[in-house]
Amino acid sequence: MILKAASGVCRISVSPAGGIAKLSRGRRLVTLTDARVRRLHPGKVPGGDVIVIGRGEKAKTLATLETVLSKFSELEIDRSAMVVGMGGGVVCDVAGFAAATYHRGLDLCLAPTTLLAQADAAIGGKSGLNLGGYKNLLGAIRQPEAVVCDVAFLKTLDDDEMRNGLAEVVKHGAIASLPLLRFVEANSAKILAREPPALKRLVSDSIAIKCAIVQRDENEAGERMKLNFGHTVGHALENACGLPHGKAVGIGMVAECELAVSLGTASRADARRLAAALELMGLPTGMPGVGSDVLCEAISRDKKRRGGELILPLLAGLGKCKLVRVRLAKLKEALDDLD
Ligand SMILES: NC(=O)c1ccc[n+]([C@@H]2O[C@H](COP(=O)([O-])OP(=O)(O)OC[C@H]3O[C@@H](n4cnc5c(N)ncnc54)[C@H](O)[C@@H]3O)[C@@H](O)[C@H]2O)c1
Ligand SMILES: [Zn+2]
Repeated sequence: MILKAASGVCRISVSPAGGIAKLSRGRRLVTLTDARVRRLHPGKVPGGDVIVIGRGEKAKTLATLETVLSKFSELEIDRSAMVVGMGGGVVCDVAGFAAATYHRGLDLCLAPTTLLAQADAAIGGKSGLNLGGYKNLLGAIRQPEAVVCDVAFLKTLDDDEMRNGLAEVVKHGAIASLPLLRFVEANSAKILAREPPALKRLVSDSIAIKCAIVQRDENEAGERMKLNFGHTVGHALENACGLPHGKAVGIGMVAECELAVSLGTASRADARRLAAALELMGLPTGMPGVGSDVLCEAISRDKKRRGGELILPLLAGLGKCKLVRVRLAKLKEALDDLD
């Protein structure tokens, strides 16, 4: 697949990470990864220099970036080198940021190793770092030269990490592809057993959906906001209850679908079907014990808010969605209906 956008052209494949050596075309490689990925998949790390960064969200800082850039300088990396980001969304974000800034831009290849990163984070050219408690406050948009998604990495993922990615896959089906949703419904056992052909289908379909949207709206002036389905309520649940991203977004999708039902763009049957697909993937769908007032307070601090209104992706049946300006009070009513 090829993603063509203003910031660059990216070749995306769902294939073994061994292909990175060929993609490098003799360039010097410097790979960013984390200790866990390096330990579990030593054979996947390409030759060349390796920089290991900290694990998880706490590593997405300017301090990590500085360590990486200093290491580039120490290693005398020049503009002819290619950076490889081999890890989850955190490693991909840090590698994207480092490649975008060092020498005003080095070539970049991402080799995402979590389902969330293969189906979502590594696609679309965004990179982000956290600052002062704000997630992804710093960011760049620049397409990598290539993304190689090797589903063999997914065998060693924790169930919780797997579920984080499955929530994004169901999201892609809900907003843009009834066939993907049907595939999830009909193949849950194969997906949960992590059979490679089933995983390849989830990743390829997700990539195709995200690419099509990003090509039309790389800078999130409009349509790219559709990818935030479930995330407005989801982020509020992450902040208010400390739920992991996938579980929070799953419940967020159910809640935002309830809003679509109340506004008449989706049916009660659509809402039941979405919740059932999430449950098949092992994701919760019931609101945890948190009041709609607490969630709305968190949402009202959301960056997408315009006055008392939000721009939300609203399901228009399953497999379609549109952006709609909604009053926060209306969303609160939908949340109350779920209680
Ligand atoms: N840039 C974007 O467009 C974009 C989009 C969505 C999310 N993100 C970002 O992605 C991040 C989340 O990514 P994530 O869910 O991949 O989390 P992560 O990168 O923190 O990885 C989760 C955990 O899984 C481990 N891991 C990675 N690959 C593994 C494997 N193959 N086997 C076993 N363990 C493995 C990691 O060591 C880590 O402990 C967030 O920071 C989020 O902001 C970015
Ligand atoms: Zn998400």
